[in-house]
Amino acid sequence: MKLTNRTILITGGTSGIGMELARRLLERGNRVVITGRDQTKLDKARQAMPGVETIQSDASDPAAIEALHREMSTRFPGLDVLVNNAGIMRKLDVRDASRSLVDVSREIEINLSGPVRMVQQFLPLLLARPEAAIVNVSSGLAFVPLAIAPVYSATKAAMHSYSQSLRLQLGKTKVAVIELAPPGTETPLFNGDFTKEDLGGVKGMDVKVLVEHAIAGIEKGRTEIRPGVSNVLKWASRVVPNFMAKQLGKTADRMGARTAQAT
Ligand SMILES: NC(=O)c1ccc[n+]([C@@H]2O[C@H](COP(=O)([O-])OP(=O)(O)OC[C@H]3O[C@@H](n4cnc5c(N)ncnc54)[C@H](OP(=O)(O)O)[C@@H]3O)[C@@H](O)[C@H]2O)c1
Repeated sequence: MKLTNRTILITGGTSGIGMELARRLLERGNRVVITGRDQTKLDKARQAMPGVETIQSDASDPAAIEALHREMSTRFPGLDVLVNNAGIMRKLDVRDASRSLVDVSREIEINLSGPVRMVQQFLPLLLARPEAAIVNVSSGLAFVPLAIAPVYSATKAAMHSYSQSLRLQLGKTKVAVIELAPPGTETPLFNGDFTKEDLGGVKGMDVKVLVEHAIAGIEKGRTEIRPGVSNVLKWASRVVPNFMAKQLGKTADRMGARTAQAT
């Protein structure tokens, strides 16, 4: 699919991968609408990217998705591409008894329920177009979990599975389903909850390079875009699955030791 002169909705476009994607897609002559929860970040994004449209919307809130759909249907009915990008990633110790039942599953609401509901709500608009695409942003951790981020990793594995089903169900339509599985990428999410030690000293991919891979992959008709380490993780998860999970799980031992000391 050529990414020029399209109408594109990106959830979570006020920083990191979503923002860089928005910037590059605007440069290519697309109409780009971004969402996010924080109005101040949306205002800053509008200043930084002239021409971008912003709508405040929480991807984890069904009522907000309905409202977003109403606004998009009125202002930008010709939606060609939906990018389910909004996401959070937290370090979670399963032995931390202080975490509430609502808080412990926040990633599921944003990273998994959000895209599922967005597809449910926006698919009719996409099906009405001569050519359209859903881009689901998963992760290299869809293939091998990072044990210190157990709920996050589970949501990304689920997004991989959901994208496969979606692709098969929509196989005879004009809506392509693309999974973008970034490797660790230098964004606020990558640097937020995690120390260099947590990530095994690995430096993330430059977000500009990641977005170049994403746009090139979409234009080449790839259904699964796995830049850099994500591709290694996918293949290693098939050849040496337990070894890879243990490698990425090494930092969980330290986390467990700290909790045990504290209790
Ligand atoms: N960076 C990496 O290493 C990496 C690797 C693999 C996959 N990914 C995936 O790539 C996607 C983007 O991540 P990033 O690294 O670019 O993160 P980021 O820099 O933290 O940006 C996340 C964006 O999502 C928005 N967001 C978060 N929760 C939201 C919600 N409930 N509703 C609407 N918007 C929300 C944030 O804005 P507000 O906070 O204002 O809402 C922000 O615009 C995520 O799905 C992430 O899992 C990232």
